[in-house]
Amino acid sequence: MKSQEIRSQFLEFFKNKTHKIVSSAPMVIKDDPTLMFTNAGMNQFKEFFLGNTEAKNTRVVDTQKCLRVSGKHNDLEEVGKDTYHHTMFEMLGNWSFGDYFKEDAISWAWELLTKVFKIDESSLYVTVFEGSKDKDNLEMDQEALDLWKKIIPESQILFGNKKDNFWEMGDQGPCGPCSEIHVDIRSAEEKAKVSGAELVNMDHPQVVEIWNLVFMQYNRKANGELENLPAKHVDTGMGFERLCMVMQGVQSNYDTDVFTPIIREIETITNAEYNKNEDTNIAIRVIADHIRAVAFSIADGQLPSNTGAGYVIRRILRRAIRYGFTFLNTKEPFMYRLVNVLTNTMGDAFPELKEQKQLIENVVKEEEHSFLKTLDQGLVLLDSVINSASSKTIDGRKAFELYDTYGFPIDLTALILSERGYTLDEKGFDAAMQEQKNRSRSASEVSKEDWEVLLQDAEQEFVGYDVLETNVRLVKYRKVTSKKEGKQYQLVFNITPFYAEGGGQVGDKGYLEAQNGDVVYILDTKKENNEIIHFAKNLPKNTTDIFKAVVDVKQRQRTASNHTATHLLHQALREVLGTHVEQKGSAVHSKYLRFDFSHFSKVTTEQLKEVEDFVNARIEGNLPLEEKRNIPMQEALDAGAMALFGEKYGDTVRLIRFGQSVELCGGTHVQNTGDIWHFKIKSEGAVASGIRRIEAITSDAVKDFYADNNEVLTDIKEVLNNAKDPVKAVVSLQEENNKLKKEIEQLLKDKAKNLKGDLLNELQDVNGVQFLAKKVDLDPAGIKDLCFNMGANATNMFLLFGAENNGKATLSCYISKELAAEKDLNAGAIVRELGKYIQGGGGGQPFFATAGGKNPGGIAEALDKAIAYIK
Ligand code: ALA
Repeated sequence: MKSQEIRSQFLEFFKNKTHKIVSSAPMVIKDDPTLMFTNAGMNQFKEFFLGNTEAKNTRVVDTQKCLRVSGKHNDLEEVGKDTYHHTMFEMLGNWSFGDYFKEDAISWAWELLTKVFKIDESSLYVTVFEGSKDKDNLEMDQEALDLWKKIIPESQILFGNKKDNFWEMGDQGPCGPCSEIHVDIRSAEEKAKVSGAELVNMDHPQVVEIWNLVFMQYNRKANGELENLPAKHVDTGMGFERLCMVMQGVQSNYDTDVFTPIIREIETITNAEYNKNEDTNIAIRVIADHIRAVAFSIADGQLPSNTGAGYVIRRILRRAIRYGFTFLNTKEPFMYRLVNVLTNTMGDAFPELKEQKQLIENVVKEEEHSFLKTLDQGLVLLDSVINSASSKTIDGRKAFELYDTYGFPIDLTALILSERGYTLDEKGFDAAMQEQKNRSRSASEVSKEDWEVLLQDAEQEFVGYDVLETNVRLVKYRKVTSKKEGKQYQLVFNITPFYAEGGGQVGDKGYLEAQNGDVVYILDTKKENNEIIHFAKNLPKNTTDIFKAVVDVKQRQRTASNHTATHLLHQALREVLGTHVEQKGSAVHSKYLRFDFSHFSKVTTEQLKEVEDFVNARIEGNLPLEEKRNIPMQEALDAGAMALFGEKYGDTVRLIRFGQSVELCGGTHVQNTGDIWHFKIKSEGAVASGIRRIEAITSDAVKDFYADNNEVLTDIKEVLNNAKDPVKAVVSLQEENNKLKKEIEQLLKDKAKNLKGDLLNELQDVNGVQFLAKKVDLDPAGIKDLCFNMGANATNMFLLFGAENNGKATLSCYISKELAAEKDLNAGAIVRELGKYIQGGGGGQPFFATAGGKNPGGIAEALDKAIAYIK
């Protein structure tokens, strides 16, 4: 059965059990500080489990793009070495939100695997949670055991400990006991030798877990304690690639049709052969796996970068490039060429790949290009480290420097060293690495206390689209401490006018006023999960008070003005440059706006002008805000909004329209485009291959901008004696300046010529050498000319000139080539030696060299010493 069909049969099976098929949430998570990437199918449903949000459908089924490369679930280093771990993988899941529980979850899983997919029952093993005697003191999962006993022989039921059979999404959050289903795909002969039961959870490549059924019933709190969730839920996750391996009767995920087309393409491009030797195999698997992770991330809008999620993506890509570089001998970008086949195999299930194909190819190619350059430079640097090494062990700190400053990977350093007969001082490297980690950890460490809850079960309401001030009550608060911000309080209110950072827009600032007039400032507002969290330096004295919450109006207005202008800018770019322009990121602040978009060349000055005019025409057109809240996605699409990836299942959307500009947006906006006053682009440039960035300002900031420019202009005019036409005056100054420069050059040449005549007369004959050592008043370039002019017709000249320029000393030594050869003299060595008198150093060629130093007082002594070289 083809993988496409396996995927759709899974979805259909649960659809027939009245589940709603929903699409995968984005793999890159934007608004959750606790998670960078979706690492399990349940992430997007966390709020339903916690009971913070009510699910519209209590039964749901999907395939979720997951990435396990950081945090609690991290498989990165395994990938490629074995045949069944991946960075990016699809997790097939069926979900019950307070609906069915263990009985249906277990019997349906069994039905699907054995009746629909017809997997041999005797090759399946299931595990049941054995309970735990630690601080959680959890009981054995008797219910699951009894249910399994009804469908599978007891010899195929195994007990599992907390590590394997109690699933937790992270240090905090929903969790519960689970039953895993494992499958043994070994040959009958192998099975006869050792029972599959003994190989479950033993990292055997042919006895692997395919499905995990989690029975969610607890929440792990920040203090480590468990509390019961308001309802019981089912969260299941089946590894799609592993299921395909079982169904297609192959021994490795990489031998399924999910991967074989990519592997064939790698073979074609690199001339490597899969299944020839293990190093090549690992490299090919790493590349085949990583291109998926990288391509899907870029399609989700996450470009490689130097921080956060972008850095993780960059590292994954670099890991693949490095494997190619080392084991497949790829010295040119090649991974971008795999995007085509990936799109062909997965583009139907995940259309974002098709739509973003060009961008993915460009970005990957550019990353490859720059990293290969780094590798080249690193090799040169490593050479010099090896050449200057005093023993056969290379200092770990030097290797760390290569890694840290130039991004040169340590395993490559170790490999090259061993090929050249050197070893790496790994301890020194680890120590340097640890020191750096400590430095950055203590800078970013945040400790959070548990929430102090004042109002139970309070739902939070956001009213900041309509009002900027309202009476609120504190629902809960907690103290957080970080090195960067010090001690802060996070406050959650029952109702709030404060907009939380999101959709590129900054969070609101403002204040809280208690009934006795005390004020607490709100420094920032952010969203965590679905809650709006207000950051304050202090806690109000009486936490149960009713407070007046007031948003900083000025900041909000400026931000709104920039946000609306961002929409108009987006519209203008599509109008002026073409509809290939798509938003790739934005930052809306009170002082400026930044907009990243796809476009493949520099935007010309004329185009920028056109864009500015387009936006300003809409501002002058006084277009009113038309807003629709909580409408279904389809209605928004019908109204002309552009489809965006990144909407989660169950989301309704908000539609913002100003004239012909229609966008899905949760941000705050002006009531009328006229409120923006004016729009001005300040810069345009590239952020990555195929991605441009515009920075612009609006309203007050434009007034300030023009006022500042005007001031500069007034100052310039004044300096130019109030010239009527300052531009003309500056141009004529420049012309005059150029003319004077040329005159000076000529004068200096004349001077040098005269000097040459004088100095030739001063030459001494010392042992048949025409010798002169003297201080002259010329710049280094002038001295060089002088030396070569004086020496032009001589074969036995030795000159040493000292000079002082801007408080610094220089020495220049010239020796006729013939003389240098005959007497084995070296101008480079001489200036290096004499350089010590002027407290400096230098070098050059045997016939001409210069030294610079900071002690002009030593010039005379250096000149005195020169004669010794020919005596
Ligand atoms: N949430 C479970 C997992 O990720 C299904 O394994």
